[in-house]
Amino acid sequence: MLRIEKLKKFKSNFPILVGNNTISNHLCESLIKEISSSETFDDLIMGGRSRINKGSKNFKKYINKSKISKKLFQLFNSKKFYNKIENIFKKNFKNQSWVNLYPPKLFNTKKFTIKKKINSIELKALLGKNYKHTNVNLDIDFSVSKGGYRLRPHRDDITRLYNFLIYLTDIPRKNGGSLTIYKKKAKKNIRKSFKRFPKMSELEIVKSFTPKKGTVVFFQSTPNSYHGVKRFIEKNCPKRFFIYGSYAQNTPVIWKYKDATYYPHIIYSKKRMLTSFHDANYLTSEPKY
Ligand SMILES: [Fe+2]
Repeated sequence: MLRIEKLKKFKSNFPILVGNNTISNHLCESLIKEISSSETFDDLIMGGRSRINKGSKNFKKYINKSKISKKLFQLFNSKKFYNKIENIFKKNFKNQSWVNLYPPKLFNTKKFTIKKKINSIELKALLGKNYKHTNVNLDIDFSVSKGGYRLRPHRDDITRLYNFLIYLTDIPRKNGGSLTIYKKKAKKNIRKSFKRFPKMSELEIVKSFTPKKGTVVFFQSTPNSYHGVKRFIEKNCPKRFFIYGSYAQNTPVIWKYKDATYYPHIIYSKKRMLTSFHDANYLTSEPKY
């Protein structure tokens, strides 16, 4: 169903693999049809993205009536496929610079990241204190974006190991909506901290991808994996259909880069937000739990 053996290494400051035509046009069409015929979406985020999320009642309903989406979901939601992805990364990035200090022992097919709004204290309680005994699970959503959708530069959730995007529509360059990869401008303190949401002035663009039908992008969710989406203008253009997912741990990931270890520090906030909206910095010091 997915020609992942065709994934190619992409030159960046963190591990990215890209595959063109990894999904056939025919399958893309079927997936668009299935997403379009969903009557209900779970939420609307980031200025115009409607999602059907793993874990919701709606997702179950959607999967049961959508044959191709179900097949794709079952493929990704398996230890076998997770191992395959991990091995492709290991093979392509032999002198792996970023290493997960406590690799997961178990693949949990049932688990998903909760989509409930919580504050930072509740988030810390949810993640627990023991970051060493890790499991991994798939998070996935079937999405469609309308005009106005954009994402400012960020790094994903601290529990993420790998993220992936599957583009189902061709978007003309003039309509924006491109996935942009950023890198932190070289400064002396570059190795000391990695903010979740750096300022635009701290970053430079490495590359922008214009979404193409059937393209799949996988990237390792390392502390410096900064990415964003340029504003999508829906004018004389189809909606932006895509599938977004990640392999996430039940605890935050502690990353090692050469001799340095990076620990996530969750930023205090009274505000109730989705777990993936919380701010956290990766620092070389251990946090006080
Ligand atoms: Fe992201």
